Amino acid sequence: MSLTQSRLNSHPQIVMIMLRSHSCGELNLTHCNTPVTLCGWLGRSRDLGGMTFIDLRDRYGITQLVFNMDDNPALCLEARKLGREFVLRVEGLVAERSSKNPNLSTGDIEVKVTKLEVLNASKTPPFTIEDETDGGDDLRMKYRYLDLRRNVVRKNLEMRHRLAGSIRRYLDAQQFIEVETPVLIKSTPEGARDFIVPSRMNPGEFYALPQSPQTFKQILMVAGFDRYYQVVKCFRDEDLRADRQPEFTQIDCELSFITQEDILNIFEGLVRALFKEVKGVEFNDFPRMTYAEAMERYGSDKPDTRFGMEFCNFTESTRNCGFVVFDHAEFVGGIVASGCSEYTRKQIDELTDWVKRPQIGAGGLIYVRFAADGTVKSSVDKFFTPEQLQAMGEKAGAKPGDLLLILAGVEAKTRKALNELRLEMGTRLGLRDKNIFSPLWVVDFPLLEWDEDNGRWHAMHHPFTSPKPEDFHLIDTNPGHVRANAYDLVINGVEIGGGSIRIHDRGLQKQMFTLLGFSDEEAQNQFGFLMNAFEYGAPPHGGIALGFDRLCSIFGGADSIRDFIAFPKNNSGRDMMIDAPSQVNAQQLKELYIRTEI
Ligand code: AMO
Repeated sequence: MSLTQSRLNSHPQIVMIMLRSHSCGELNLTHCNTPVTLCGWLGRSRDLGGMTFIDLRDRYGITQLVFNMDDNPALCLEARKLGREFVLRVEGLVAERSSKNPNLSTGDIEVKVTKLEVLNASKTPPFTIEDETDGGDDLRMKYRYLDLRRNVVRKNLEMRHRLAGSIRRYLDAQQFIEVETPVLIKSTPEGARDFIVPSRMNPGEFYALPQSPQTFKQILMVAGFDRYYQVVKCFRDEDLRADRQPEFTQIDCELSFITQEDILNIFEGLVRALFKEVKGVEFNDFPRMTYAEAMERYGSDKPDTRFGMEFCNFTESTRNCGFVVFDHAEFVGGIVASGCSEYTRKQIDELTDWVKRPQIGAGGLIYVRFAADGTVKSSVDKFFTPEQLQAMGEKAGAKPGDLLLILAGVEAKTRKALNELRLEMGTRLGLRDKNIFSPLWVVDFPLLEWDEDNGRWHAMHHPFTSPKPEDFHLIDTNPGHVRANAYDLVINGVEIGGGSIRIHDRGLQKQMFTLLGFSDEEAQNQFGFLMNAFEYGAPPHGGIALGFDRLCSIFGGADSIRDFIAFPKNNSGRDMMIDAPSQVNAQQLKELYIRTEI
């Protein structure tokens, strides 16, 4: 293959004088006897006396190099001195391998080296650059450039790149245009804390980094852009978890003259296209479920619908049974763990301890075993006849061989705990297969949620979300029952995206701020720019933002988003490689009016 045909230079018009003729991932039997020049990093070397083998690695793959003592003893001795991760350039001839490696794209050939050049030496890396590495998380993050050389991590980023490309192509085809919005802004209330940036030119004043470009994209609609998107960094100073980073990427979108139905269809189309292009997966179903139904059936607004195990509500049927826990409970609910009737006492005790942990918060766990031979045994035998227990089993859909697990207590807390138990049992029973994808829309979220600590209403999505017109009349009398035109995209129990139809009327937006406890002055101060814009012909509009890192981790079958981000922060919000955050010098602080004396 000539230089210009090589995949390293697939654009024939561009003439490149490259240090290499081929990549380390492309040579095969058709190249036998071809002279080649390769560059890459030394992965492994094996010294077999008369022969030395080196795995040369680059982004595209691994090629085996062979040095023969009989052919060129000096070169072979030189090769033996090379260390891991040295950067090499070799010239040689492609030859068929005697023992082939079917796991490598280049596994049929090797390169018999005739010339060796060390482009750069390397210190011994602090962990092995293999798929299964011996490096702990912090070490890998500190030397992220070495970690990124590992196949698994690099492949994640390559997938991220492909996904971003597909998303852009889909949205471009739907007439969306990408517009960049500023990073130094005024705080937008999305529920998390802002990262703030002091302004040197405006003593005592601060910018905030955007939690999302929410207000800007709405203003772009007022400006007539009609369909906007942006692959955009967002910043939220919140406690970190596996699926949360302080800076993360959204696929942020907004559309004018649109209904909720249109938005759901366009973004369902996007998800379908991505899964088809990137994973070859096609969905028959893309269900929609109201928030109320999701809470009733799964106790969660982001149910993992890869498996059933839906809640069965026993609150009414167990009332006045004489068992004080049930009699006093606001909610009694159960799930059926299929095939678990033979759980030992020890396993049940362990599960009971698990639900009683503070993170789950249940008071205890009640079980009913439906043995394969048809007998029923439970931890509440004293209060229920076998017939009553059978009736409970029937209601919950339990079959012989199943185990019914029941929690009871205050409704919201118990539903939450039962949701956790359902997910845990789903994991233990292997029902949460990472190669199965189950998307759904959760719609009709409540507009508001009550904040016990501060004794006030909060916008469940954000303050720009429109109430459902049919619930307008409840705004003053029963605000907690007002539903919003808001929706979440959920895949495998992960909230991948959220959005809403917006308020585009100044009066209604003002009413909303009042409901949320903003004085007129505060509302004007924080959102005057948006309300002013609404006075100049704001079109009806709505949108959505997808969490791109989460989308990547779902595609990659991983729980954590970290390995889909090139340079992530650890759980304390630190970048271990550049060691940030860090202190700044007194002079800098003085210039920012944060400290006056040096
Ligand atoms: P929301 O706050 O629901 O909506 O965010 C949209 C999506 O962003 C992802 N996400 C995160 N991903 C990683 N780390 C985080 N800390 C993090 N926080 C959120 C989630 C989430 O579904 N402006 C609105 C969108 C709109 O109304 O159009 C917004 O930001 O996947």
